[in-house]
Order: sequence, then C-alpha cells, then structure tokens
Amino acid sequence: MMSTATLGGHPPAVAPVSGFEVIERPDLSYTPEVAAETSHLYERVKHIVPSVEWPFHAPYVAAINRIKKQRNAVILAHNYQTAEIYNCVADVVGDSLQLAKVAAKLDAKIIVQGGVHFMAETSKLLSPEKMVLIPDMKAGCSLAASITGADVRRLREAYPGVPVVAYVNTSADVKAEVDICCTSANAVKVVESLGVDRVLFVPDQYLAKYVASQTKVKIISWHGACEVHERFTGEELKRYREAHPGIRIIAHPECPPDVIAEADFTGSTAGMIDYAKAQHGGKVLLVTECSMADNVASTAKDVEFVRPCNLCPHMKRITLPKILDSLLYLQHEVTIPPELAARARLSVERMINLTQ
Ligand code: 13P
Ligand code: SF4
Repeated sequence: MMSTATLGGHPPAVAPVSGFEVIERPDLSYTPEVAAETSHLYERVKHIVPSVEWPFHAPYVAAINRIKKQRNAVILAHNYQTAEIYNCVADVVGDSLQLAKVAAKLDAKIIVQGGVHFMAETSKLLSPEKMVLIPDMKAGCSLAASITGADVRRLREAYPGVPVVAYVNTSADVKAEVDICCTSANAVKVVESLGVDRVLFVPDQYLAKYVASQTKVKIISWHGACEVHERFTGEELKRYREAHPGIRIIAHPECPPDVIAEADFTGSTAGMIDYAKAQHGGKVLLVTECSMADNVASTAKDVEFVRPCNLCPHMKRITLPKILDSLLYLQHEVTIPPELAARARLSVERMINLTQ
C-alpha cells in the first residue's frame, strides 16, 4: 500500500481493501459546524494548542472521530503522543503495559496505534484477528532497532541456560527468541519471577542498570539506549533543582544512572503521571519525552510543570492527518508471520499473566 500523507484534499490512489467500505475523503474546512462539534475537545488542549492553530486541527479531529465509529476502530495512544491526539481522538491512552493489556481485550475490528511500530506489533500479537494500522511505518525506536532475533540467538549461545528478558521496546523477531517480556512498569517483578540468580536483559542498558539497582538478581545487559532519555544528565537536573527549590524530579528508568540518582521518583510513564498528579500545588519536572507534561497538565491543573524538552522523533511521526489517512485508506497494516507471532505472543502473554 502507498505511504501518502495527503494534505489539501487530493485523494491518494489507494485501491479499496476487500471487506471494507470505501469512505470518501471528507471536506476539511473549519466550518461553524466543525467548531461546534469540537469545542468541548478544544477545552482539553487550550493550555497547549494556541487558538490560531485549532482551525487546522479541528476538521481532522471531527473527521477522525466520525470515521473511526464508521470503521469500528479504536485509537490506542501512548502517553508521548501530541496533546491533540492524546486528548481529542484517542480512545485509550496509557503506558506500554496498559496499552498492551487493553489491546488483548478490545471489541473493535481495527486498532489504529498512536505510537511506534513495536507497540503496533504488540497489539497485533495480542489481537491477531484484528486489523492493526500504524499511521506511519517509519515510526521506529532506537531501542527496538538496536537488537535482532539473531543477536538474541548468539547471546543464548554465549550464556547457555540463562533466561532472556526483553523489554517490550523490541521487534516481534526479538520477542520470538526470548523467555519473557517486560515493560518499565514491571521489569523488576518480571526478572524476579524467573527464580534464577542471573538473567540476560535486552536491549536497554539503562533500564538494565535500574533493574540491577532494585534486585539481587545479576543482570547481563545489551548496549541499546533510548535516544530521548539518554540525552538527560544529572548535571542538568542539579541546575533545575537550584533554579526551582522544592521541585519534584520524576524520571523514566530509560535515563542514565546519574539522572536516576537525582530523581525523587522513577517509574514508567503511567507511574510518572500518577506521581506528578499527586503533587498538588507543587512544581514538577518530568524527565522524559516532552509531550507527557502537556498531556498530564490537562488534568493536573494544580501542578506546575517545568519542561525540559526532548522530543521522540519517532512518536512525532504520528499526526492527525496521518491518522485520518490511516482510517480512510486502511494504511499501514502491521502483519507478523504466524509462526513468529505464535512464539512472540508467548513472551508477551507470560508478562501479562504475571502482572494481571
Ligand atoms: P512506558 O510508557 O512503558 O513507560 O515506555 C516509555 C517509552 O519510551 C515508550 O516508548
Ligand atoms: Fe523508543 Fe525512546 Fe522514542 Fe520510546 S522515547 S519510542 S524508547 S526512542
């Protein structure tokens, strides 16, 4: 299928998909009807989306919300999606673990993944009968790109008998080779569940270090890193503390150890959100992708956010125009060969069963 971000109302030449109705590309003008239909949604993002920009977003928001019902589709959005996606078109938002759990139980026909490719693959593994779409196939991840299934097989040869735990930020190819998956929300629990004295932990070297600091199990790690979180430094956080006395610093465990050492709390994106929301009347610094602060701020109105801004270029490939194209033209479908999917699914299901 073609990869086409269409702007300006030029329909791309995409063949109809059998079994699905053809939906005409809607008019994307900002009419009084569109303004009225979306005004309650603008209330959720007006702290971050200037009023001059809303006439660009609103026609997409209205069209996406209409067409997703027509298609019996749901949009799963990670906490790093932009405010207009997170607040105005997503049906479910959350961290990787929450999205995976929801994907396993959905009643819809189509899942549109507001997130990156490994997340769409996880949804497909857990909902194999559904059509899973990602609005941009190039939405990757530096962690997922750092390791292959062949690398895992080589590690197993080098460390016979040592179980392999894979962070969910990996391809299905890698998940098919490992014993169990984990997310940042359950990594320590997963490692300890194996009842062994050492594990191979791939691919995030920093999450591995964080887990090692929380358990007696010896962690043998891979050399991957998240290109967003590895850029933060402990020095930078010290300067924020000096400039903002009393600030609570909340870090994602994909950050390097000197950053974690400066943090008051470390947790998954969902854990970070819960901790931030509890700081009523306080000041908070979220050491993670910058859309998170925008998204939490819409519900944590009594918390002041200080925003160091590291964008994830992969997450930012997902936009309202691409989500609309995804729904209209059923692009880009994520598929996984059945034999590989069966093995990869086991690793994800073992994790989910452990943390139900
Ligand atoms: P979580 O939402 O699971 O904490 O993951 C963060 C992340 O980097 C996803 O790409
Ligand atoms: Fe991957 Fe980091 Fe982007 Fe998450 S924030 S998708 S871990 S590169």
